[in-house]
Amino acid sequence: MKARVINIILTIIIISIIIIQFIQVELKNPPAMSDFAGPENIKAILQRSCYNCHSNLTHWPWYSQIAPISWIISHDVQQGREHLNFSNWDSLTPKEQAHQIEEIWEEIEKGSMPLPKYLFLHRAAELSAADKEAVKNWAIPTVEEESFH
Ligand code: HEC
Repeated sequence: MKARVINIILTIIIISIIIIQFIQVELKNPPAMSDFAGPENIKAILQRSCYNCHSNLTHWPWYSQIAPISWIISHDVQQGREHLNFSNWDSLTPKEQAHQIEEIWEEIEKGSMPLPKYLFLHRAAELSAADKEAVKNWAIPTVEEESFH
């Protein structure tokens, strides 16, 4: 009796997983119109830790094709690109770029970015103390300089 109940529950779970695979989301990389223009060492850090969600150069891993993970990932990338997209960097005025740079440092300083859940599967995206120091030493003077204009 007990084994039968477990069998029924497992069957329902498996069928549900199969059914939700038909609810597809778009995992797309629109053309990258431009790119972050700043020091190479900073760009390397941003590419490694931020570009998957904040550019149109997203690398979609195999598990990003599987629902419901695909829904979560596509939502994060969409939201990420809306807030900050390095592939549209040229379309921002210098003032807007300075504002983004300020936010980048704020998010990194707070430890909110990269999203902590992302780091579970992307250890290489974790920022070292030296990475953070480099971003800070670039961001603060860049933002200050722009605010004098
Ligand atoms: C896994 C995806 C992901 C990664 C990787 C990621 N972000 Fe984000 N980022 C998001 C999402 C989603 C949002 C919007 C929602 C939020 O603020 O949580 C966001 C928002 C932001 C914002 C706007 C914050 C605001 O309040 O408007 C900044 C700035 C930012 N991220 C910087 C970065 C930087 C810098 C990195 C790399 C060090 C990074 N992010 C890595 C997903 C990501």
